[in-house]
Amino acid sequence: MSKQKINTKTIDYKSIKPILDRSKKLVYIETYGCQMNVNDSELVLAILQDNGYFFTKDINEADLILINTCSIRENAEQRVWGRLNVFRIAKTKKTSLKVGVIGCMAERLKEQLLEREKIVDMVVGPDAYRSLPDLLRNVEAGQKDVNVLLSREETYADITPVRMDENGVSAFVSIMRGCNNVCSYCVVPYTRGAERSRSPKTILNEIQILVDNGYKEVTLLGQNVDSYFWKDEKNPEKDVNFAQLLEMVALVNPLMRVRFATSHPKDISNGVLYTMAMYENICNCVHLPVQSGSTRILELMNRKYTREHYLERIAKIRKIIPDCAITTDVIAGFCTETDYDHAQTLSLMTEADYDFAYMFKYSERPNTKAARQLKDDVPEDLKTKRLSEIIELQNRLSLESNKRDIGKIFNVLADGFSKRSDEYLSGRTSQNKTVVFPKKNYAAGDFVNAEIISCTSATLIGEIVENEQHETIHELKNILGETIHIFEEKTEKARNKIKQNINKTTKKWKQ
Ligand code: 5AD
Ligand code: SF4
Repeated sequence: MSKQKINTKTIDYKSIKPILDRSKKLVYIETYGCQMNVNDSELVLAILQDNGYFFTKDINEADLILINTCSIRENAEQRVWGRLNVFRIAKTKKTSLKVGVIGCMAERLKEQLLEREKIVDMVVGPDAYRSLPDLLRNVEAGQKDVNVLLSREETYADITPVRMDENGVSAFVSIMRGCNNVCSYCVVPYTRGAERSRSPKTILNEIQILVDNGYKEVTLLGQNVDSYFWKDEKNPEKDVNFAQLLEMVALVNPLMRVRFATSHPKDISNGVLYTMAMYENICNCVHLPVQSGSTRILELMNRKYTREHYLERIAKIRKIIPDCAITTDVIAGFCTETDYDHAQTLSLMTEADYDFAYMFKYSERPNTKAARQLKDDVPEDLKTKRLSEIIELQNRLSLESNKRDIGKIFNVLADGFSKRSDEYLSGRTSQNKTVVFPKKNYAAGDFVNAEIISCTSATLIGEIVENEQHETIHELKNILGETIHIFEEKTEKARNKIKQNINKTTKKWKQ
């Protein structure tokens, strides 16, 4: 166990990478859905590793399979039912194998999972991961067990996630859980419960640990980060809102890039935008889901903003951070959507000029406000047609946005080899665009300056620009590294000398 000094206090922490120990029980975790689920799986691994279950990437050698599930659209749930069928076969071959369903589907479908899917041994909701060791003891004894209780307080603030990413460059840090918004189409408030914020101190500690472990980028996660609020019971002057938290995070280390998701158009404040503009290491990218360009549909969705308010927020982002990328989520074919509403979505997309979008067909979720009060009345083929028009438009906008980058130089954080060739690295600009460039002497985790020479709608192609400043930084880094090495050797020698002297004195004293 190592110790690290942060803000004059000493904290203890363990390895943040999975411990590989094949002599112990092995857990395989499969994750579906959002970034929050990816981070939750890392929390779950931290809890399991403390309780005798170790990580495996190979499903065939697992003693326990956990499937972390998503309920946001019906097809996400269908995929999980399909995987459970595969695990059923694995269980017939290895009878000691246990299967657990965790995450949003566990919350929503506990009975069906245990009754319909006889192979499921354990069902655990997003706020009940601390009870995993107890549940597993029962499961190991041959019983089935469930905990899907939601909590008003749980933020897992004190648990350091065990990182399952491959490259050690970029990590998610959860700053809050749950959601209070009740958008009428959305199942999240029911599966993840009410909103609660995590203490700034534990967030900053977690980020310092990532810095110490060589990570170069953090993404702060929440369903609606703009409503982050930490109340200091003793001193209201010490309350922390999202803009303040963002600044505190940016100050942890100037070389740590900071991203965040997701912002809500009704809540994103000028304070957040000015903080982004002020700190070089806060990335210039805002993910601002619009869902629809029609004010009438936005009202039915219970989004609590109008088309005009949304466009005003976009104008403000562009004014305060001129080179900011803006990305969004769009839903096609929500209840009662007309051709006119759909045309409004297309025109808003053009006006906002998005760099990237996630686009979906509306999928009715049981028990949501929309399912209870509105009719899912847009025929499937019309939803499909509208979605393909939205995708086609976004492809055009993304291509135009990428073309405008040709000839510009971007600071790129390399995060691994490109998909096509090990001679090329792939990385991201501050705007979160992917750049592919020749590897040369660089590796994942390096920052490079790349000039964009061509593009597709999804990727920028770059050449490394070795400018003088860049080379000086490299040289300085090397000199600094050598100095630290010499210093460490010297202190080690001094420490040994002191130890010897103490031993000598102790011996004399004993005589
Ligand atoms: N149907 C389709 N898309 C949905 N989303 C959330 N709920 C639904 C649904 N019922 C989309 C929204 C949200 C993103 C995470 O998923 O666009 O922003
Ligand atoms: Fe769902 Fe709306 Fe909350 Fe996002 S803000 S999680 S869409 S309810």
